[in-house]
Amino acid sequence: MIKKETIDTILQTARIEEVISDFVSLKRRGANLLGLCPFHNEKTPSFTVSPSKGIYKCFGCGAAGNSVNFVMDHEHLTYPEALKYLAKKYQIEIEETYDKPGIEEQHAQNEKESLFVVSSYAAKWFSDQLWNTDEGRSIALGYFRERGFTDDSIKKFELGFNPDGWDVFVQAAFKDGYKEEYLIKSGLCIKNDKGKLFDRFAGRVIFPVHNLSGRVIAFGGRTLKTDKKVAKYINSPETDIYHKSNVLYGMYFAKKAISREDNCYLVEGYTDVISLHQAGIENVVASSGTSLTTEQIKQIKRYTQHITILYDGDAAGIKASFRGIDMILEQGLSVKVLLFPNGDDPDSFARRHSAEEIKAFVKANAKDFIRFKTSLLFEETKEDPIKKAELVKDIVQSISLIADGITRSVYIRECAVLLNMDEQALLNELNRIRRNALKKNTNDVQTIENQTADLIVPLEQPREEILSDIYVEREVIRVLINYSHSPKKLEVEGEDGEKQIIETTVGAYLLHCLEEDGIIFQDKVCNQILEIYKEHLEKDQLPNESVFIHHTDENIRKFVIDLLANPYQLSDWSRHRISVNTEQNDLDRLVNGVLYSMKIRRIMQLIAENQQKLKEVKDDAMLEELLKEQKQLQIIKSQLSLMNGGRIVLK
Ligand code: CTP
Ligand code: MN
Repeated sequence: MIKKETIDTILQTARIEEVISDFVSLKRRGANLLGLCPFHNEKTPSFTVSPSKGIYKCFGCGAAGNSVNFVMDHEHLTYPEALKYLAKKYQIEIEETYDKPGIEEQHAQNEKESLFVVSSYAAKWFSDQLWNTDEGRSIALGYFRERGFTDDSIKKFELGFNPDGWDVFVQAAFKDGYKEEYLIKSGLCIKNDKGKLFDRFAGRVIFPVHNLSGRVIAFGGRTLKTDKKVAKYINSPETDIYHKSNVLYGMYFAKKAISREDNCYLVEGYTDVISLHQAGIENVVASSGTSLTTEQIKQIKRYTQHITILYDGDAAGIKASFRGIDMILEQGLSVKVLLFPNGDDPDSFARRHSAEEIKAFVKANAKDFIRFKTSLLFEETKEDPIKKAELVKDIVQSISLIADGITRSVYIRECAVLLNMDEQALLNELNRIRRNALKKNTNDVQTIENQTADLIVPLEQPREEILSDIYVEREVIRVLINYSHSPKKLEVEGEDGEKQIIETTVGAYLLHCLEEDGIIFQDKVCNQILEIYKEHLEKDQLPNESVFIHHTDENIRKFVIDLLANPYQLSDWSRHRISVNTEQNDLDRLVNGVLYSMKIRRIMQLIAENQQKLKEVKDDAMLEELLKEQKQLQIIKSQLSLMNGGRIVLK
């Protein structure tokens, strides 16, 4: 583990604008720098870097973070890898502790590294066999060339050959000093009942699988026999560095093109990826025979919002595409489908056509998922009303998975036209499905956001309605982070009844008032941040924003970075009301404003609780008590509205 002191040095030394300019060209725009976002495809720059805050934020795609996050996301590195990258850039010596994380963690790290090393060794060895042995050249290289792969493609994808026999690879690896343990753990070899080691991929041509940074993590081996009884492909088993469900074949070679083209072609096999690349189409990845997973779609989503499925037109391909469509829609991406006709697959098609022809063919034939499902199923359901109803439900079910309302209604209309149905009937069905789904998932964050999106803050004229929790709490945290160190004058009555002015900070004052009123935040992250403030205050300190920007909890980090980058996300103050400058000049009013919002919310909550008790009360004395309290609460509430502020204590 990297020492805390080293991490601090790295964080203090790394300047965000320097780190990012290695990858993005930035232009000064006021206090900030502006450039084209490297995380999505855009033509007008909305990627903002704030040197003073040490953060970046893209107003197009929402990507945000500090310098370490940038390196992690852009270069696809883990946290410690990103720290090491920055240390190297700034020539900071890394000090690591080995005892702290526990022998096991260190061991696990070493284990993984060993698997990487043996996999990389194997890939090189397989490639060497292919190019530099008689058997390899005549059998394997001959096979690849026969299929139409160029030497460049074969080298680019590091294709190889494991000679036929019992343990040709094992013996070579032993001779080069590799241990049995990792040969087995990596899945390159298998031990039989008699304890003898043999090659998993013997007699097969090899397709290495790379992770996002280009390291080999697994292999697929294709047989050269035409015997139908032999499995066409054998793949590496799950290992500590290879989790099938997280990996898409070809992603390392495709990621740049996927962002650039803002589209990802999804194919089934190794050979489809290679042939399309060779034809000049590089934004392509394969699910490699396993069914598509949510993790894989999320990986694509880092580069684009659009997927085009290119599968064989056989029954298996159709079934696989149906499953894929719903999963892709659910992740909020758009999906088109093209099934290749007459026994073609992308590989065989690409071999006979140029990049331009393939692109034109895909453009002309890829159908959005509704047209695709309809055209496939319509023929067989035309004469059968029950089957047609099922088809309609099936399509509406898919549409219901789309998060965006406008997209949903566009699709419903299209569906109505295509199927010659009443649009309202489809809408009813859609709403029924979505209601049921919502019931299952009541904590839908989306709905909360929608409710708060158009609220305006009561500052000059407090409004009496309760602002939604997340908004008010966010606003308190915003004031704390921006102004907690600012001085705050308070008028208090001394023991002798004399009025006197004491000076404290906005942070201390706010925290004191919240404590006094027994106010607790509902939102988990807001609460965590509040707790950090309280802990610091107990030691007579207030935390700086860097405590949060570099916090190890990702949720806290994201929340604060977003807040700093987007101070007025929910309200429209910056445009309609006051600028940050005047906000600072009028701090008292701002602080009282948020306190008011918190207090009014708490009072309304107390009133509601009291009303509930009133409904249930059975004895008279109690009733009287509750009524008195109710009146008291109402008085406080109107006082609050009048005074708009912090000087009234609720309890
Ligand atoms: N696959 C597999 N195991 C099998 C068959 C297929 O893992 N027994 C995976 C492979 O990743 C393969 C993909 O499924 O690339 C698609 O299978 P298929 O279309 O049968 O193979 P192709 O890639 O078309 O290979 P080829 O052109 O050499 O027949
Ligand atoms: Mn094929």
